[in-house]
Amino acid sequence: MTDRLTQTLDAIRDPASGKGLISAGRIEGANEKDGVATIVLKVPAGDDNTPALKMQIDAALTALDGIDRVRLITTMERAGKPEKARPEPKPQAPRPAKRIIAVAAGKGGVGKSTVTANLAAAFAKRGLKVGVLDADVYGPSIPRLLGLRDVPGLQKTDDGIQPAEAHGIKVVSMGFLTKPGAAVVWRGPMVQGAITQFLNETAWDEPDVLLIDMPPGTGDAQLAIAQTAAVDGAVIACTPQDLALDDARKAMAMFEQTHTPILGLIENMSVFLCPHCGEPSEIFGHGGARSEAETMGVPFLGEIPLHIDLRKRSDEGRPAALEEGPVSKAFARLAESILVACDEVRKPLPEIVFS
Ligand SMILES: Nc1ncnc2c1ncn2[C@@H]1O[C@H](COP(=O)(O)OP(=O)(O)OP(=O)(O)O)[C@@H](O)[C@H]1O
Ligand SMILES: [Mg+2]
Repeated sequence: MTDRLTQTLDAIRDPASGKGLISAGRIEGANEKDGVATIVLKVPAGDDNTPALKMQIDAALTALDGIDRVRLITTMERAGKPEKARPEPKPQAPRPAKRIIAVAAGKGGVGKSTVTANLAAAFAKRGLKVGVLDADVYGPSIPRLLGLRDVPGLQKTDDGIQPAEAHGIKVVSMGFLTKPGAAVVWRGPMVQGAITQFLNETAWDEPDVLLIDMPPGTGDAQLAIAQTAAVDGAVIACTPQDLALDDARKAMAMFEQTHTPILGLIENMSVFLCPHCGEPSEIFGHGGARSEAETMGVPFLGEIPLHIDLRKRSDEGRPAALEEGPVSKAFARLAESILVACDEVRKPLPEIVFS
């Protein structure tokens, strides 16, 4: 919190205690960036003074040089709870997994599904409980990538939708609901409904990480993700080529519009590693995603080489990340940086009302 925010906010009186807002403990956070001041205001249960207070805060802060807009977030105290000087973080709403990460790209064919399957394997390899939700209604490829092509369908019991399991990874896929090769016509709301149901009604058994393989292009799946506020964020896969980077920018913009945090960028098919001599060649260029991430101000999460093993093992239904070698190492590093990125975007979740 900058000094001028502290001073300005403390000069506004808390109607309940008569003290300044800061001294009264009403401000849980405040910062300013690019002309926008973001203030987190604690509102006691049943408080009638909030609208007037909001107007006061807005007027006082927009009067400061360089602040054009005030974004006020109010956190509600539950009625009947004794007020504490420093409230403990409230228990989070039940979530189907400890971390939920969407793997997306603006463009088809950049390797979202390959990255999802191998990341899942890398997380499983480090001993984490992992789930994969294949949300690609238009071309579900997770069943093939994880060797689950013969799953006969999905069962629902009293515990919920029963996921299939491969290599210790729990999996639900749109592909389990449709016959291979069948053209499926999904309307937007159906896509959203299916993703939300898979997310919330599957018997995931509280995985440490749940990865969602997103379909290319469409905004319906992104909307569904945004609506289930439980998702920690999205990782965006792209190749080093300019065109794919352009699409990555569009994908990021779409997530930003729906307020889904961007955990970072992944460069797939980064350098070609010769399977015989291990010599790297930069077939599609190299490093484009890293510099793009810097420009966009999002973390660069890592690069995955273009390697024949990745394609071969994918076709065999056994992710290359389960074996030893350069591919597996790259995914282990990527998994690590994604866990770090998740921790960074995580904040205690009080009951928040955006206004
Ligand atoms: N790093 C890599 N090295 C070698 N082959 C790769 C790599 N990444 C992806 N591939 C191959 O590229 C093809 C496309 O990958 P994938 O299906 O994962 O892309 P996608 O982004 O999920 O595509 P879609 O948009 O159709 O869902 C596959 O044949 C896959 O085996
Ligand atoms: Mg795919």
